[in-house]
Amino acid sequence: MTWYKVPDFPDTDKPFLRKVKVNGKGICMVGYEGNIYALSSTCPHAGGELAGGWCKDGKLICPLHRYSYDIHTGKGDPGQNDYVDVYPVEIREDGVYIGITSFFEKLKQAFK
Ligand code: FES
Repeated sequence: MTWYKVPDFPDTDKPFLRKVKVNGKGICMVGYEGNIYALSSTCPHAGGELAGGWCKDGKLICPLHRYSYDIHTGKGDPGQNDYVDVYPVEIREDGVYIGITSFFEKLKQAFK
């Protein structure tokens, strides 16, 4: 896994949704109840932009058809049978970092 610093991250305790690009990936950053989460920003249903949605009861809601995803696990609601990727977040002295495991790293781990 490689850690990437999120550019221009806002220093706030207020709730927020924000799309960032990290290592070529679109990531939806979620500030919710004092914690920061990072999920894939593309809805697996039909490609909606999750950062344009909202967060309610620990779920990220897609603005297009209102599918919802748990911000901790990325799992879709029952019946959706889908999920979004979630990424670990670290808050360091010099900023916020997201951990991303590349496809090749995942492949290597699968064949260990
Ligand atoms: S595109 Fe997200 S719910 Fe349909």
